[in-house]
Amino acid sequence: MSGDDIKIQVWDPFIRIFHWLSVLGVLLASGTGFLLSDPWLGLHVAVGCALALLLVARFFWGYVGSNYGLFSSFPLRRQEILHHFLDLTLLRPRHYLGHTPLGSVMVVSLMTVMAVVVVTGILVLSGEERQGPLAGVVPYVIGHHAKALHSLSTLALLALAALHVVGVLTESLLTKQNLPKAMIDGKKEAAFHIPYAARRSWGQAAKRLGQTALLGFALALLALLFPPSPTVTLTSNYVRHCGSCHDPFHPSLLSSPAWQAIVGNLPLHFGKRVAPASDELSELMGWLSAHAAETASTEPAFAIGSASTLEAPRITATPFWRTKHQAIEEAKFFAAGGPLRCSGCHADASSGTFADQAIDSRSARPGK
Ligand code: HEC
Ligand code: HEC
Repeated sequence: MSGDDIKIQVWDPFIRIFHWLSVLGVLLASGTGFLLSDPWLGLHVAVGCALALLLVARFFWGYVGSNYGLFSSFPLRRQEILHHFLDLTLLRPRHYLGHTPLGSVMVVSLMTVMAVVVVTGILVLSGEERQGPLAGVVPYVIGHHAKALHSLSTLALLALAALHVVGVLTESLLTKQNLPKAMIDGKKEAAFHIPYAARRSWGQAAKRLGQTALLGFALALLALLFPPSPTVTLTSNYVRHCGSCHDPFHPSLLSSPAWQAIVGNLPLHFGKRVAPASDELSELMGWLSAHAAETASTEPAFAIGSASTLEAPRITATPFWRTKHQAIEEAKFFAAGGPLRCSGCHADASSGTFADQAIDSRSARPGK
């Protein structure tokens, strides 16, 4: 670089902060999502929310920010993209002050896929984990299926990010510019470049803001229309009769036929004698059936309750329960008070929620 090269600011502070916070956020969210276990869900969700906010802010900055970050300055015409691609394959450097055409395609792709990751994450959180403001709105099945899409889109995002790094390094080598450094100090050499004057568009931004607000309002209304299904609390009658030898299991953990098989088989109960008075027995039967798995929309109700059978009316006999607990050592079950003391490891067992964050990681996590 010769001394009289003029450097000008291309990336404003917001663009740079957005860029590096996104890098950090995506790494943190992927790490907590793929590598770490359930108790980290809180951090994962917090980082996801931060990324969502960043994305929204960047979106509006694309209309009202400074020159080179404006969407209207992105060279996205097919001709420009084709030329840039040809230049690259012929190792023919061409200087762009703002985003290159392929770089612009990359920015748009990264932002779009990131939005898909955020939206599917919200669906999983509300539908499968029954948490967050949309917990009562998104059905379990949608949340369950969104999970696969959430992982897939994240993998796509990481692949795109890797491609982006390769692209930046290639472009840096070809044009002999330090592009990563430019994303830190914001400056690029101005020599030979034609400054691009893009137009700010407050009108567009206002329009998008209006649309977003309208969508948010509609979602909020929807959330008000479908409040989260209140969790059934255990009656004292139930706890007294069914909570002395093992946990009083939440009614959503077995199907109605399974409960009928259990209560119908009293007073003989897994080799024990359990004999409530006959009026209390019918009350128990009615209450358990009324709140059985069929009536709930939590993950345990779907995965355990609906899978329970009349032949083996057991929570612990269902494939889901077995898979989730197979890695836990005998000693840890012992410390908790046995496998049927769900509350020994799940702080929220009596609500039937079994949220990931409520698992006592000290006593239960395998290998710790
Ligand atoms: C006197 C003690 C006792 C009482 C009271 C009792 N149970 Fe049980 N329960 C047992 C035993 C013992 C088992 C079998 C445990 C095992 O196999 O490890 C069992 C198992 C169960 C299971 C299967 C658990 C699983 O997934 O393996 C269910 C469901 C159940 N009981 C429901 C009830 C209900 C409903 C009541 C109240 C009407 C009740 N229990 C009252 C002793 C009791
Ligand atoms: C010794 C501790 C312990 C006991 C006792 C225990 N669990 Fe768990 N449970 C765990 C751990 C640890 C996990 C997380 C496993 C994983 O994700 O790899 C888990 C996972 C679960 C999940 C899935 C949660 C999710 O979203 O991933 C459900 C549902 C569940 N347990 C229900 C029960 C029920 C019902 C009982 C009682 C019949 C029970 N557990 C007893 C430790 C325990």
